[in-house]
Amino acid sequence: MPELKVVTRDGNQKTIEAADGVSVMEAIRDAGFDELLALCGGCCSCATCHVYVDPAVAASLPPVSDDESDLLDGSSHRNEFSRLSCQVMMTDALSGMTVTIAPED
Ligand code: FES
Repeated sequence: MPELKVVTRDGNQKTIEAADGVSVMEAIRDAGFDELLALCGGCCSCATCHVYVDPAVAASLPPVSDDESDLLDGSSHRNEFSRLSCQVMMTDALSGMTVTIAPED
């Protein structure tokens, strides 16, 4: 099963398992991290699932959609590695990726 390294806002890192085909948001939420609110449940309408992805894999991810980009623009913490974690699906190829939960807006 693919693994995901999750860094919390206070800098702690934990490795979790993420089933192939679930979103990064679902994997983080299902592992019990309560600081990733994911209020809309993955409908790409809330931006409370904002993470920074591993710079090493950022370019290999599917591109940011217009909707995702619009939501990320509403965050004062957006950077070049920002993604909405509900829009990034886990695959075996992404196993080992590090995601850092972005600060709360
Ligand atoms: S969970 Fe709401 S945009 Fe990702």
